[in-house]
Amino acid sequence: MLLGVNIDHVATLRNARGGVEPDVIEAAKICIKNGGDSITTHLREDRRHIKDDDVKIIRSEVKTKLNLEMAMTDEMQNIALTLLPDAVCIVPEKRQELTTEGGLDIAGQLERGIKFVKPLVEKGIEVSLFIDPTEEQVKAAYQTGAQFIELHTGTYSNSFGTPNEEKAFLDLKHATEYAHSLGLKVNAGHGLNYQNVKRMHEIDGLYELNIGHSIIARAVFVGLPQAVQEMKELIK
Ligand code: PXP
Repeated sequence: MLLGVNIDHVATLRNARGGVEPDVIEAAKICIKNGGDSITTHLREDRRHIKDDDVKIIRSEVKTKLNLEMAMTDEMQNIALTLLPDAVCIVPEKRQELTTEGGLDIAGQLERGIKFVKPLVEKGIEVSLFIDPTEEQVKAAYQTGAQFIELHTGTYSNSFGTPNEEKAFLDLKHATEYAHSLGLKVNAGHGLNYQNVKRMHEIDGLYELNIGHSIIARAVFVGLPQAVQEMKELIK
């Protein structure tokens, strides 16, 4: 399994004082140097953490796979088609939410999804849809022409260590198997941490885990290089 490090929280900290520290680009480089296989940033409509210039500079200066998380809007599609990240992950977005809550309902907007995904794929971008682990959503994601899905692990992460964990875990496992049977590649993420991430090894063929909060939180105590190395060790 590969490790995609989401560095949005580094930008959140920087923006708290409106200056340039901590440097998001430096953070991206440290993540890659210490085992991160790709860098993920979520350019939100309200630009609350990552800004347009951050993404542009990461694209040009950090020689690794860039995965751009974005909402299914015309503005974001234009940015992706101009910037040409290696991958995009299409996420649902609500202004008031603290973080991405729940997966994209692609089954409920399939026609729009097909139109949205097509030009991105035609430009050579890997397109992934961030969805809940249900057959209905996996099937719709497949029908859009996207090559990847990213399964939302939030329900699993939140129920880890409780009686609800097993069902949430099995939903992820079954959705992965179904997606593989359709030829999709499967990533996963949201709420994964140094404890609950270990069970991801029980799901065959997961391609990449995208992890942000727990790595940046641990970096406060042990430093970013070690926080990334420890997570890499757990998932490789
Ligand atoms: N994957 C997607 C699509 C996300 O939106 C997020 C949160 O921005 C993550 C992964 C990472 O989640 P976390 O910060 O909880 O590790």
